[in-house]
Amino acid sequence: MERKAMPIRSRRAPYLAVLMCLILLLTAVFMLVVHWSVPAQEAWMGSRALKVAIVEVDEYYLSVSDARKVSQVQSETLQKHVLKTKAGASNDPLQCSISPQSRFDCAPEKYLTQDQCEARGCCYIPTGPNPPMGQPWCFFPVGFPSYNMENLTTTDTGYSASLTRSAATFMPKDVMKLQMDVFLEAMGRLRFTIRDPAHKRYEVPLQTPSVTAKVVSVLYDIQFSSNPFGLLIRRKSSGLVLVNTTVAPLFFADQYLQISTSLPSQHVYGLGEHLTSLNLDLNWTKVTFWNRDIVPTANANLYGAHPFYLVMEDGGTSHGVFLLNSNAMDVVLQPAPALSWRTTGGILDFYIFLGPEPKTVVRQFLDVIGYPFMPPYWGLGFHICRWGYTTTNLTRNVVTSMRAAGMPQDVQWNDLDYMDSKRDFTYNQQNFSDYPKMVQEFHQKGLRYIMIVDPAISSSGPPGSYKPYDDGLKRGVFITNSTGQPLIGKVWPGETAFPDFTNPETHSWWYDMVKEFHEAVEFDGLWIDMNEPSNFVAGSLEGCPNNELENPPYVPGVIGGTLRASTLCASSQQHLSSHYNIHNLYGLTEAIASHNAMVKVLGKRPFVISRSTFSSHGHYAGHWTGDVYSTWEHLYYSVPAVMLFNLYGVPLVGADICGFGKNTTEELCVRWTQIGAFYPFMRNHNEYNTQPQEPYVFSPRAQKAMRSALLLRYSLLPYLYTLFHLAHSTGETVARPLFLEFPADSNTWNVERQLLWGEALLVTPVLLEGQTEVNGYFPAGTWYNLTTGIAIKSRGQWVTLPAPIDIINVHLRAGYIIPMQVPGLTTVESRSNGMQLCVALSSDGAARGELFWDDGDSLLTFEKEDYTRIIFLAAKNAVLSIPDPVKSQVDTLKLQDVTVYGLLNPPKKVLVNEIPNTDFSYRLDTQVLTIPKLALPLGSKFLITWS
Ligand SMILES: *[C@@H]1O[C@H](CO)[C@@H](O)[C@H](O)[C@H]1NC(C)=O
Ligand SMILES: *[C@@H]1O[C@H](CO)[C@@H](O)[C@H](O)[C@H]1NC(C)=O
Ligand SMILES: *[C@@H]1O[C@H](CO)[C@@H](O)[C@H](O)[C@H]1NC(C)=O
Ligand SMILES: *[C@@H]1O[C@H](CO)[C@@H](O)[C@H](O)[C@H]1NC(C)=O
Ligand SMILES: *[C@@H]1O[C@H](CO)[C@@H](O)[C@H](O)[C@H]1NC(C)=O
Repeated sequence: MERKAMPIRSRRAPYLAVLMCLILLLTAVFMLVVHWSVPAQEAWMGSRALKVAIVEVDEYYLSVSDARKVSQVQSETLQKHVLKTKAGASNDPLQCSISPQSRFDCAPEKYLTQDQCEARGCCYIPTGPNPPMGQPWCFFPVGFPSYNMENLTTTDTGYSASLTRSAATFMPKDVMKLQMDVFLEAMGRLRFTIRDPAHKRYEVPLQTPSVTAKVVSVLYDIQFSSNPFGLLIRRKSSGLVLVNTTVAPLFFADQYLQISTSLPSQHVYGLGEHLTSLNLDLNWTKVTFWNRDIVPTANANLYGAHPFYLVMEDGGTSHGVFLLNSNAMDVVLQPAPALSWRTTGGILDFYIFLGPEPKTVVRQFLDVIGYPFMPPYWGLGFHICRWGYTTTNLTRNVVTSMRAAGMPQDVQWNDLDYMDSKRDFTYNQQNFSDYPKMVQEFHQKGLRYIMIVDPAISSSGPPGSYKPYDDGLKRGVFITNSTGQPLIGKVWPGETAFPDFTNPETHSWWYDMVKEFHEAVEFDGLWIDMNEPSNFVAGSLEGCPNNELENPPYVPGVIGGTLRASTLCASSQQHLSSHYNIHNLYGLTEAIASHNAMVKVLGKRPFVISRSTFSSHGHYAGHWTGDVYSTWEHLYYSVPAVMLFNLYGVPLVGADICGFGKNTTEELCVRWTQIGAFYPFMRNHNEYNTQPQEPYVFSPRAQKAMRSALLLRYSLLPYLYTLFHLAHSTGETVARPLFLEFPADSNTWNVERQLLWGEALLVTPVLLEGQTEVNGYFPAGTWYNLTTGIAIKSRGQWVTLPAPIDIINVHLRAGYIIPMQVPGLTTVESRSNGMQLCVALSSDGAARGELFWDDGDSLLTFEKEDYTRIIFLAAKNAVLSIPDPVKSQVDTLKLQDVTVYGLLNPPKKVLVNEIPNTDFSYRLDTQVLTIPKLALPLGSKFLITWS
């Protein structure tokens, strides 16, 4: 995954090298360094009673042996401080004088009375609402016992130290001695882990970049406080403290790990999947990670877990933090601003990404979790699904009606309806008797086909009646209960067992099932649903045993109040570990199995869409945002959701267009289709027993609006596909929030009702009922209306745009060229149509863009260099192309027309490859030059000039 390694060199290096020599030679100087760190320490701690010794451990300052000596000096002073801390009674009023916003909850697991709170050694000051959330009444005093750091040493990859705690916490089974390792990784990335050195604990089996050397970054300094232990990361350029874990005590008990940090700003993004605005609310919010099947609801744990946040810092720099931990957890955000991670198991394995641009933060995160997979071209077309296409003929009708209405469609889907008794890998022999034939017909029309597959396998039939279960049982692929038998729950087909996708045997069983079904029905992709995993009974049909995993001392804020709610028993057993530890990985592991099975079955690029996700999901599959309602509120939430999933490395994402649950209205469905045309994954999907919502069921006016949104998307697919290529090859986002592109403009930091496609296209949808105008933020610069070329020259301001029902506002940023194509009704058609270039000149008459083109569905075309990349440049009254490399897939591709926006002076003459062109036209009012009727082969260079 490591690409574009940038040599990072310290500007301080010469000075530091001299200092290092002095340190090595002179003990006196060494002592000075120790003293030198003391004022810094005082600056940190202010007038607080508890003082800490701080070591500046940049290895330029200290060699390994020096660090040991510092530790010894430090541990002497440290001891005194420990004593001092203990001497102060916890009800000492001074110890409790902490500003309300900076109080950290000392009663995380239950409500405490004043006596109970003080018995913990904590402060009790009742103010504001409590419980469940809000400013805590019971909070840690200054100097509450935490871990102390000892024996800090430098290692080949960074530092390590021991952390010890002398007093137990109020949580059972503290690990009293810990090992901390810090890895100064390349690419502006820092990792630190805190583990139990004596016992191997569960760790997320994600293959992260292996590191053998340390890289001292110019971006940050790292410092440690030893009593109590704390880690500080400071941005060198601004001095901003990005991470400071001394703000609250560290907990590392068997089932409760807590670490807190201050935040440098209020602008925090991420920590999905939740129904949220783009910016997280820091007013005492708790976000919970425990994947669950539920209609997206505010303050609820939803389908996926992405324990990653990105912060916009004053001045427009940015950093990110990823906790690689899959246990049930909460993150508490408070207005200090500060944040606490509370996880129920595993280890603390943090990655800090130093940016400094927010885009770079995302790439640094994806360097760890994997870049997105490259979807097939057809997957970017329009998908239609509903629960309720109960026969093949009803399903065929959709395709026929879409065609008749002149609406593009690439993929037809079926929900549960196709199955026999709702069982995977079967089909209904009455209503879907000609199912294989239906799918072949779709293929003949240039369409693809996808159906739902749930993980839960029906277990109630007599032996010999259902191969997926019989075979799975024989091969031991199911999750087991406390008596070692398959845990039985209940999902759509009734009683079910749950495949354990952490077992390699399950992957080969899953592949066998997928392959066998594919031999009957030639589907093109897999839709994996219900994989949180969802269970209609709590835990299992037999309930769950009574043990520590089922009843942890701290239960995160999960809907339903217990870990088993709507899923399996936490103590059920999987190949890798207990379900307790790996529940949040269920969707990811099923996605990996499904991705790999499809690669083997098709020998082509897989297309898998999953409801449940975990960090690194985007490397294998896409996501839809689940069972949203047909409401204006859910329409709005879809925009931040799509942008956030792009930050999580899952660019192939979209919400169910027109809403899944409840009945849509025509207006809502039109507006939803318009923004839906800019979801990277575009699917209209509807629930059983609701009003139909396919584009062709609406009035001619609504159909016209939807058709034009669909055709607009299809015409932009070459650009969208190129963005996916950039995501796959360089860790870019596809649909992105404005702040990612304009971090220096803090006005963009809250813009969540618009999105960008790549760097060039700004989409300003209507998300409110009854609106015919929309307000959009336009960062400073020139933005051309994509359809008319009319320019908005913005100083960085809000602009009111007309938005009648048949319009979605899309603007092209000056300085960019986007490749487009005459739309067809499928991508098979459109891919053979003429290409178009839209050139948006900057004020100095320049622009650039690119096209990535390959056959659209072969595996690894980028990796095998079996693609054509064409760079487009405009400057000095000319547009030209540079194709490199050129492969045969581009042979038939012809440039049909070129449109130039922002051409101030009417041209008298246009030359195409030096031949005068007579078809061009120029509009004085809009300053648009159009050069139609070209037929330039894109595999060769072209040059178009005007004068
Ligand atoms: C780190 O946090 C501690 C505890 O709140 C505080 O006293 C100290 O000033 C902070 N350090 C910095 C550099 O912000
Ligand atoms: C620190 O190192 C010393 C000397 O090797 C050792 O005696 C001590 O136990 C170590 N402390 C911890 C907490 O490991
Ligand atoms: C924080 O939440 C409390 C309680 O809901 C509310 O009273 C207060 O106004 C909020 N503060 C801010 C800054 O939004
Ligand atoms: C679908 O319709 C055709 C033609 O009307 C009919 O012959 C066929 O039986 C129908 N198929 C199913 C599965 O109902
Ligand atoms: C485990 O599951 C089996 C069914 O596979 C069931 O008969 C048995 O009672 C379950 N054991 C417990 C302890 O629930």
